[in-house]
Amino acid sequence: MHVLILGAAAGGGFPQWNCHCPNCKGLREGKIKAKGRTQSSIAVSSDGKNWVLINASPDLREQINSHPQLWPDAHVSRGTRISAIVLTDSQIDHTTGLLTLREGLPLPVYCTDVVAEDLTTSFPLFTVLKHWHGGLQQHSINTDYHQRFVPKGAEGLTFQPVVLESNAPPYSTYRDNIVPGNNIGLKITDDTTGNVLFYAPGCMQANDTVKQVMRESHCVLFDGTLWANEEMIDHGFSNKLGTDMGHMPVNGKGGAIALLNEFNVERKVLIHINNTNRVLDEDSSAYHSLCEQGIELAYDGMEIEV
Ligand code: MLT
Ligand code: MG
Repeated sequence: MHVLILGAAAGGGFPQWNCHCPNCKGLREGKIKAKGRTQSSIAVSSDGKNWVLINASPDLREQINSHPQLWPDAHVSRGTRISAIVLTDSQIDHTTGLLTLREGLPLPVYCTDVVAEDLTTSFPLFTVLKHWHGGLQQHSINTDYHQRFVPKGAEGLTFQPVVLESNAPPYSTYRDNIVPGNNIGLKITDDTTGNVLFYAPGCMQANDTVKQVMRESHCVLFDGTLWANEEMIDHGFSNKLGTDMGHMPVNGKGGAIALLNEFNVERKVLIHINNTNRVLDEDSSAYHSLCEQGIELAYDGMEIEV
């Protein structure tokens, strides 16, 4: 299975347009060793020709334009190698890119019913897009872990939903009151090799299924949003803890590093990294400690074979 990291940052990207935190300022002024990153999205493929886009970020246009794998075939006047889209939640950073795809609709989109509800009510992207060639062809993801599905063009890969404990977006009726399906991770198995990718960009606490899937995985792309739970409060940017927003911290007890260290996974990769996270500075002790523990930091353009 081929995996492309299109955007490794959390909502806002790195640097974020209005942010002058030490990371954003340092990157803008060329004073820190760090890579800029666009907002959260990956693509997976079994054959290298048809790609499933997982989450559609506001930076999608730029992401497609910088990845030749996703460009139209040589002999078509218009087209795309994106055969389907899968959404893990209804957050702005994971869905707004659907608007960018309007010229190429209809395209199949797979999401849970509660995500579809948000995207037809409080953030009605699906409704708006109906005006372009009938819009997206919606397919429902059942939240039962045993309900396998194969998105269009992904033959050779089997997808399974993993219900995650996280939060719903601020505009959702499920904010602070989530139900199974507001946030899912994806277990993706390559039918030929049996290799497993687990993608979970927003997870506040690991339930038993998360741990089971981690045990079976060859590669885990996991929530690396914030280094510390109080990070946004300490910067004076918000009064919310990371866990209030649905993200476990990377560092400390109950954090993503401690969780990943419980498992013997070939590639452990943090993804969905917020611009305030100190690991982004490659000279930081946080970044060095991550590397020493065998955990990678996703970057735009990273390619992984699973
Ligand atoms: C989140 O996952 O909490 C987001 O990155 C928020 C956002 O997109 O603004
Ligand atoms: Mg996000």
